[in-house]
Amino acid sequence: MSGFPGVRPRRLRSSAAMRRLVAETTLEPRQLILPMFIREGAREPIAISSMPGVYQHTRDTARKAVAEAAQLGLGGVMLFGVPTSKDPEGSGALDPDGILNVAIRDAVSEAGDDLLVMSDLCLDEFTSHGHCGVLDSAGRVDNDATLAIYAEMGVAQASAGAHIVGPSGMMDGQVGAVRTALDGAGFQDTVILAYAVKYASAFFGPFREAVGSSLTGDRKTYQQDPSNARDAIREVDLDVAEGADIVMVKPALAYLDIIRQVRDHVNVPVAAYNISGEYAMVEAAAANGWIDRERAILETLTSIRRAGADMILSYWAAEAVHLLR
Ligand code: PBG
Repeated sequence: MSGFPGVRPRRLRSSAAMRRLVAETTLEPRQLILPMFIREGAREPIAISSMPGVYQHTRDTARKAVAEAAQLGLGGVMLFGVPTSKDPEGSGALDPDGILNVAIRDAVSEAGDDLLVMSDLCLDEFTSHGHCGVLDSAGRVDNDATLAIYAEMGVAQASAGAHIVGPSGMMDGQVGAVRTALDGAGFQDTVILAYAVKYASAFFGPFREAVGSSLTGDRKTYQQDPSNARDAIREVDLDVAEGADIVMVKPALAYLDIIRQVRDHVNVPVAAYNISGEYAMVEAAAANGWIDRERAILETLTSIRRAGADMILSYWAAEAVHLLR
C-alpha cells in the first residue's frame, strides 16, 4: 500500500500498451541523422576498429547508404571526408573535386529531395597537423585566418549542393563568417547547423581513427572545458546572434545537463551528437556480453531526446529505425 490511499504510480506501468500510452518521449526516424565517412580512393569499405559496424565508405557504398537513409525516413546524413593527401592549409576542403565536396554531390544526386544532406565544415580532416584551423608562425591555431577559409569552405559545400552546413571547428565568429559568405554567394537558403557547444572530450577518441586524424596534442584552446556550463550558454547566444538556424551540443551523454539548459534557453531547434566514444562504449560492453546492446541503444537515444534534443546525430541512426519497428 502506498503512503496515500489509492495512489499507485505502478498502475501506469502495468502493460506494454499502458506504457506506450503514457510515454513522454518519442524517438522517430525523422529525428535521427546518420554521420558517414567517405574515403577518397577507397575501393572497398574499410572497417574502423574502434567503432565496430562503422566503415569508411567508398563513393559507391556511400551512395547506397544514403539511399537507405532516405528510404528509412531519416532526418539526414552528416558527411565527413577522408582525403588521401593533406597540407597545412587543408586546401582539399576548398577543392570542388576534394572528397567531401564530391561526396556531397553524390549524396544529393542519390537522395534528391527525400533526405537532407549535411556536411562537416571544419579543417581537421584536411590539415597535415590535424587541427581544426590553420596555424600562425608560433604554431597556434589562428582564429581569424581560419574564418576566411571556413567562409570559402561553406560556399564550396553549398555549391556542391549541401542543404545544411555544420561548422564544427569552434573558432570565434565562425557562424557569422559562414553566413555572410553564403549570403554573398546567393546561398541565403542554406541552413547552418552550428556546433555551438563542443567540449574538449576524451570521447572523440574513435573519431580520430575514423577520419585518419593527424592530430598530436589536443584542442583545448578552442573546444570547451568540461567543467563549464555557463560557457555553453554564452556560445549558444553568440551563434544564434550570428545566424545559426540550429544549435548543437556535443558530446551528448556526459553533457545531458547542457542539452537541457540549451533547450530551455533558445528558440531554435537543438541537436545533440551521440559521438564516436559513446558508440564505442556501448558496442564494447555489448561485445563482451555485459549489456543488452539493442536496449542500450534505444535507451541511449531516448535519454538524449528526454534531455531536450530535437534531433540526434548517431552512428546507430539507421539501425535504430529497425529497432523501433
Ligand atoms: C571536427 C569533428 C569532430 C567530430 C565531429 N566533427 C572531431 C573533433 O572535434 O575532435 C567528432 C565526432 C565523433 O567523435 O563522433 N571535424
